[in-house]
Amino acid sequence: MDKNKVTPTQPLVVRIFHWGFALSMVMIVLTGFELHSPFTFLAFNYGNVFVVHMTFAWLALGFVSLRIVDAFIRKDTSFIPKLSDFRGFVGVLAYYLFLRDSLPPGEKYNSGQKFIFFSWFIVFAVATLLGIATYFMGEYLVWVWRLVGGWQIVRTVKFLAAVYFSATILVHIYLSFTEDLSRLQAMITGYERQEP
Ligand code: HEM
Repeated sequence: MDKNKVTPTQPLVVRIFHWGFALSMVMIVLTGFELHSPFTFLAFNYGNVFVVHMTFAWLALGFVSLRIVDAFIRKDTSFIPKLSDFRGFVGVLAYYLFLRDSLPPGEKYNSGQKFIFFSWFIVFAVATLLGIATYFMGEYLVWVWRLVGGWQIVRTVKFLAAVYFSATILVHIYLSFTEDLSRLQAMITGYERQEP
């Protein structure tokens, strides 16, 4: 008989947010790089790439809003780092660097995950504001351009945000497949299989 315990870990809203946001971010980052500096071997139509970029940007904003409302309703702070996470992070880093055998005891997400997830919300908010300001091309939100220091700096900040997302998403995917696979199972089915 299978003695493993099956626990509900990821509510439906979190799963809808996760896969919707994941697809949107991959599309935003890829089309963003193409818009920033078109790859000559791809020969995509610039206007079409822009439409895809904007569509997924609005979708991502919708998924993030859904998750924020969900977090308020369920009083869920699982992805927000606390002061104790700065201390906990040392142990998490030691584990990922193969200097200790197991992760320090933590909550739903470990300190490293919390820092990355929370940083994504912040970087996404900044990039969205800059993106909307760019979309209106100086008609509205001119103060955003002025605050940042001009059009070229807006472009550079958005480019760096895309680089940050690319690097951290790759780490996130790598760890999802190489760590506890039951966590990945939970992100698909909602349920996590735990050893008794
Ligand atoms: C093949 C691609 C991906 C896989 C397999 C994957 C897998 C996972 C898993 C397993 C978790 C739960 C971690 C745990 O319980 O320990 C998670 C959480 C999360 N992932 Fe991904 N992920 C992928 C892509 C992405 C992408 C592209 C993003 C967007 C930047 C993303 C954003 C998040 C966020 C924000 C959470 C926290 C969910 C919450 O509680 O709100 N993921 N992911």
